[in-house]
Amino acid sequence: MKGIVLAGGKGSRLYPATKVISKQLLPVYDKPLIYYPLSVLLLAGIRDILIISDPISLAQYKMLLGSGEKWGIRFTYAIQEYPRGLAEAFIIGEEFIGQSDVCLVLGDNVFYGNITDLMRKALSLKNSGAVVFGYPVQNPSDFGVIELDRSGNILSIEEKPENPKSKFAVPGLYLYNHDVVEIAKGIQPSARGELEITAVNDEYLKQGRLSCQLLGRGFAWLDTGTPKGLLRASQFVETVQERQGMYIAALEEIAWRQGFIKTEELIELGEQLRMTDYGKYLMSLVEGKSD
Ligand code: TTP
Repeated sequence: MKGIVLAGGKGSRLYPATKVISKQLLPVYDKPLIYYPLSVLLLAGIRDILIISDPISLAQYKMLLGSGEKWGIRFTYAIQEYPRGLAEAFIIGEEFIGQSDVCLVLGDNVFYGNITDLMRKALSLKNSGAVVFGYPVQNPSDFGVIELDRSGNILSIEEKPENPKSKFAVPGLYLYNHDVVEIAKGIQPSARGELEITAVNDEYLKQGRLSCQLLGRGFAWLDTGTPKGLLRASQFVETVQERQGMYIAALEEIAWRQGFIKTEELIELGEQLRMTDYGKYLMSLVEGKSD
């Protein structure tokens, strides 16, 4: 399976903070926001990743992430000229996807919990279709909303409905087989002029090929789209890291635990950052202090 991180967008709800900088480059506590969605892909064992953003920010993502070699993974980069909607990721990524399955994660989504197990379960549901996730929220009208029957089958999926049929929002994490490219090419822009991911999911649903995996207690899905959301996400990360002494979305650690890089490589990456708690943490892993 390949991965795509969609990291463009206007970020207008964060203006003026995001007037000249991409939202996903802003820090969530001690690391750039994009590290968090990337951690989900790495934890799922995905090593071949396409980063999509606007032309100016893409150069900065390249500076930040490079080829991926230092983490034992491979980054490819592609431009989205204008934020025309989430589903455009599959059209831009057509060549990258080829005949592979693909996992799309939005660059501003922060997840916390047993992601490895979650992704394993989701992959077993996918067959030759698609999987979305469902997360209970108090304000479902702000999201795509999924309606399920008692056995967990999807009845409907609606984008920002006025009268939501359930409390389950659809987070920005999706699994598809390669048909997603043709499906995305076939959808029409919505009233707000975007190629909606909900339209793609709806097509899979019509074809009887859409499954849902619920994220229950024990998972956090945090919103970083507003100043308050961003602050709360930072506070959440700081609290967990401080209390447990275990880092969230330390990509070097995940790469090492997944066996993508060797212990010597982890030490070297830690040394480069040794002036920070982050770097000291990476080095402490090898000394066995944080296991
Ligand atoms: P949104 O939060 O829907 O939009 P935004 O980031 O532009 O913010 P705002 O509403 O404040 O203007 O986007 C969700 C994620 O998807 C975010 O990480 C940006 C990304 N995105 C793209 O990369 N391209 C797009 O065309 C869209 C719509 C979003």
